[in-house]
Amino acid sequence: MVYITYHSGMTSVTSSSRPVDEAASPETSSGPSVVYRDDRSHVFHSWSAQAALDPVVVAGASGSRFWDESGRSWLDFSSQLVNVNIGHQHPKLVAAIKAQADKLCTIAPIHANDARSEAARLIAELAPGDLNKVFFTSGGTEALEYAVRMARGHTGRNKVLTTYRSYHGSTGGSITMTGDPRRWGSEPGFPGMVKFWGPYPYRSAFHAADDAEECARALEHLAQVLMVEGSHTVAAIVLETVVGTNGILVPPDGYLQGVRALCDEHGIIMVADEVMAGFGRCGEWFAVDHWGVTPDLIAFAKGINSGYVPLGGVIISERVAESFATRPFPGGLTYSGHPLACASAVASIGIFKEEGIVEHAKHLGDDIIGPALAEMAERHPSVGDVRGLGVFWAVELVRNQESREPLVPYNASGEANTPMAEFAGACKERGLWPFTHFNRTHVVPPLTTTDDEMREGLAIIDEALAIADRYAG
Ligand SMILES: Cc1ncc(COP(=O)(O)O)c(C=O)c1O
Repeated sequence: MVYITYHSGMTSVTSSSRPVDEAASPETSSGPSVVYRDDRSHVFHSWSAQAALDPVVVAGASGSRFWDESGRSWLDFSSQLVNVNIGHQHPKLVAAIKAQADKLCTIAPIHANDARSEAARLIAELAPGDLNKVFFTSGGTEALEYAVRMARGHTGRNKVLTTYRSYHGSTGGSITMTGDPRRWGSEPGFPGMVKFWGPYPYRSAFHAADDAEECARALEHLAQVLMVEGSHTVAAIVLETVVGTNGILVPPDGYLQGVRALCDEHGIIMVADEVMAGFGRCGEWFAVDHWGVTPDLIAFAKGINSGYVPLGGVIISERVAESFATRPFPGGLTYSGHPLACASAVASIGIFKEEGIVEHAKHLGDDIIGPALAEMAERHPSVGDVRGLGVFWAVELVRNQESREPLVPYNASGEANTPMAEFAGACKERGLWPFTHFNRTHVVPPLTTTDDEMREGLAIIDEALAIADRYAG
């Protein structure tokens, strides 16, 4: 994960385009600002050893940049937590939230409301196949919890299959479904959640030589897991369509179609977790659109409204929704379909269409990011693999291109993570906020990043890779 952590040894950065917020409380010569002191005294941060934190005090943001209270700015190559797809402070999105606040801030989920109705219709119109109904949540983890509850209610089965190298959220069910170290602190977790290996051609669990072999073997493995688990006990297979934080693992062609076929064969609900990969990130409205696959349920959040107001949800097929036509769905949230959040979703979808943001994301991936990273891979001994699509790319760093030994060990921290920490520090010094995870840096800026900003950011990554190269041979 990337966290907003400022290493005080960092050189300050200046930028000609830097807007300075006069109202922000500045760092003074007498020490840290009141914002910083209150944070360190009273704010308990996610996923972190609290004493070790040294957060940047973010004073403002615009488009693809954000800046601190002293005016240092960074090109945001993380989109924060890969959620600010539309860029920071899009004026039309801000205006829509203000307008909705004047009209109706909140209303219980039992009532109908114009913002909620329109958001649901727009999302259903974009979704593939017969995914025509939307249950709104406040974020991604709840979307996964509810998708699983729907699958269980629909099938009358309990078991849920998810992959290693995945993240599905941090609440009870979602953290149990998660296939990365963030799960470890919450184990043993919930019963009935089983892991299998998804495709990852660069580090194949199946000793596959190419994408086609990886696809065939990964599907064979899943079929065997279903056999030994008892396919009739499995309610859902939950997959990140393109695995996000765990490596931008783009499935080989045919894999998702194969999973769809296995689900159909065994009466299992296919859940696509598109919390990170959806809403334009992969250069399509939904990542499944790349492969023409229609899951039974899509979990979304993040890019739906770029996190301007917390929002997530599940897009539901007619067949699954039908299960709850005459019997009540056993679940709900006070803030399900919150008007401020839904109004921002309506506005965001409108802006995406007006500004051609999904098309721009595809252009950035096809014409700028992909070619630039491929070219860097030729020159840098530390680059083992580059992969991705749209504005969703990973650069996987290694000590040796032949052995593929990762630049830092799996889940490294402290001393063992030094090469990655130095790489990230070099990016920040040069005015770029990177998204680093394990031995990778991801290229995941807002989808609205201009061609020039993209080239500027990629040039900084190119320079910073010289640091990683020192550890590679
Ligand atoms: C693929 C995926 N699923 C679920 C989640 C959980 O979303 P949230 O943090 O909004 O609960 C995330 C968050 O990063 C994610 O990347």
